[in-house]
Amino acid sequence: MLTKLYIKTYGCQMNEYDSDKMADVLRACEGMEQTDKPEEADVILFNTCSIREKAEEKVFSDLGRVRPLKQAKPGLLIGVGGCVASQEGEAIVKRAPYVDVVFGPQTLHRLPQLLQARRETGLPQVDISFPEIEKFDHLPSAETASGAAFVAIMEGCSKYCTFCVVPYTRGEEVSRPFADVMRDVEELVAQGVKEITLLGQNVNAYRGAIDDGDDIVDFAFLLQAIAALDGVERLRYTTSHPKEMTRRLIDVYANTPKLVSHLHLPVQSGSDRVLAAMKRGHTVLEYKSIIRQVRAARPDISITSDFIVGFPGETEQDFEATMKLIEEVGFDVSFSYLYSPRPGTPAAELHDDTPHEVKAARLKRLQDRITELENEVAQAMLGTVQRVLVEGTSKKDAQELAGRTDNNRVVNFRGSPDITRSQAMIGRFVEVKITEVVRHTLRGELVLSAS
Ligand code: SAM
Ligand code: F3S
Repeated sequence: MLTKLYIKTYGCQMNEYDSDKMADVLRACEGMEQTDKPEEADVILFNTCSIREKAEEKVFSDLGRVRPLKQAKPGLLIGVGGCVASQEGEAIVKRAPYVDVVFGPQTLHRLPQLLQARRETGLPQVDISFPEIEKFDHLPSAETASGAAFVAIMEGCSKYCTFCVVPYTRGEEVSRPFADVMRDVEELVAQGVKEITLLGQNVNAYRGAIDDGDDIVDFAFLLQAIAALDGVERLRYTTSHPKEMTRRLIDVYANTPKLVSHLHLPVQSGSDRVLAAMKRGHTVLEYKSIIRQVRAARPDISITSDFIVGFPGETEQDFEATMKLIEEVGFDVSFSYLYSPRPGTPAAELHDDTPHEVKAARLKRLQDRITELENEVAQAMLGTVQRVLVEGTSKKDAQELAGRTDNNRVVNFRGSPDITRSQAMIGRFVEVKITEVVRHTLRGELVLSAS
């Protein structure tokens, strides 16, 4: 009998990637099929995030909600993975004794063994160790129907920004060997994948072993090697760190057209004082200099960022400096968050006397301005013809197709009136004329059903 798996993912793209890998590993070892209905499932997994407090709290309320399912179906197994699991470990089972397995971001490949041990012993299983890169060696090949796929090239982070839990929950930066990454990309291309997104907490810190580990190659080398593969038509990466934007990497924008005209380069703040307190390792001037160089190499590039508002001690003047940087750079679609103190991080010890209402008002002002800028970029795209990779049908209307432009904008458009021809466009590039801006997405008309 087919067993069913339900996974709920919290947080970042890296977690979405990890959830896909959990599904792959359980499909390969236990023949499990995914369901989107928890009440149908035999195994329920929560892939958690602890970057901000809200996401963390949500896990325990969601766990409480699936508890009655276990009473109705005693064989149901419940697992907690991801960064909350990594931080809390055994404490999760103490707080929620109906949890069967707890595993970290680096031990998800051991899920079949953990579930098996739970069934055999009747005892909850906890494994939140960091066995370095072992995870990638034990994962089955990915299967994907859409033309776009993610490939993780490194794990963890060694930057230790004072506000961030990632180095503690995911461990230090570890890069996958060059040949392993290339093999994954080649397998995906053989399945018809045309767009690859390289994934990691700091992809541009990549230092991959080559030739049996005697030499190391950098991220610029890896990008060029992947772009040189026949079948790879578009290349993206996320997330990157300003400190690792080398001249060699900037040059890739000048000589590698397959690399998209979109760079997500988190800056967090436009104040040197706050950047230093965050231990980001660069100044505002250095950040602007990188952007200037990237734009010289690729004039039409869209720059996006993450911002933290209300870091301890952020003054009105510091915040104005962030607003000034936003004007100077002209950011496109960006993410911004209120600072959330994370237990165990150095910033959590800092005195913070800015009232919540002041921080919330600053965040709103920043978000409103970014939305305006984002809208200006979208308006400038009106009437242009964009190369769109069709990723599937549109979320709101199954008659419509949805895909992404080079600068990462979602476009919805009518495919062919013939549903079979329309479906055949999924996973292919088409040309779409942009006709309308609708909040965070675009609408368009099919001009050419290309490759
Ligand atoms: N590697 C990226 C970089 O260069 O900054 C960051 C990855 S982090 C997982 C994603 C984003 O979460 C950060 O850029 C930051 O804006 C936000 N973040 C991390 N810790 C936070 C905290 N304690 N409070 C609010 N936002 C936080
Ligand atoms: Fe976090 Fe800073 Fe690394 S934001 S993921 S410690 S670069």
